[in-house]
Amino acid sequence: MRIVLLGAPGSGKGTQAALLKEMYGIPHIATGDILRTDVAEGTDLGKKAESFMNDGQLVPDDLILEMVEARLGRPDTRRGWLLDGFPRTLPQAEGLRDMTERIDQKVDAGVILNVDAEVVVRRLSGRRVCESCQSVTNVSEMQAGACPLCGEKLVLRPDDEPQVVRKRIEVFEAQTRPVFAFFNEHYDVIEIDASKPVDQVTEALRVGLDRYDHS
Ligand code: AP5
Repeated sequence: MRIVLLGAPGSGKGTQAALLKEMYGIPHIATGDILRTDVAEGTDLGKKAESFMNDGQLVPDDLILEMVEARLGRPDTRRGWLLDGFPRTLPQAEGLRDMTERIDQKVDAGVILNVDAEVVVRRLSGRRVCESCQSVTNVSEMQAGACPLCGEKLVLRPDDEPQVVRKRIEVFEAQTRPVFAFFNEHYDVIEIDASKPVDQVTEALRVGLDRYDHS
């Protein structure tokens, strides 16, 4: 199964992808996670990407397309994949279409997680990431100030500072929302109300994705 998760920053792509990955046994490929690892490791890509990310801007399309094609070429993608955070621009959407034709990996469905901007701002201001295991949680669900999985320190992502979140929402509206129309034109699309609680969103996704081949 090959799924593309689309949605605004904070719509819950990463949260749902972590659950779907287990449900369907396919790799979760998140361009934001790959970039953050490259930034942390100080690779050439990380050095080029860091300032764009910290300013809430998109990393240039050519770097992203090269990175995604390399990732889709790895052996763990044979049973399928779940793309999160890509494509984010029309050139990336066209690049994905060309790339999947070239490597003969058809996209089964695009999933659009719909959520209002005020929900995004609330969720991202409350998001915390574990410094050690990178798991994501929210202050609204936390019992203590430490990671619920490994007990280590939780931190705010640099691009979750309020002024950067505002920029990311602007960039999403200008550059990523047009990708939804592209998907509606070229692929099967499932639209989900992602303002609901996590388990209800997961259930809606499961129902929507049930008709595709999971073998
Ligand atoms: P990226 O890491 O992809 O960030 P994003 O798309 O902005 O998405 P987020 O990770 O902020 O949110 P999410 O939708 O995954 O929500 P989450 O599940 O964490 O990209 C970061 C940067 O990298 C970009 O700005 C750009 O610079 C660069 N980049 C990445 N890909 C690129 C590309 N293709 N092209 C160019 N540049 C690229 O949830 C958020 C919070 O809400 C969490 O606290 C969570 O616990 C909570 N939550 C989730 N679901 C629910 C729910 N249903 N109810 C209540 N709370 C919820």
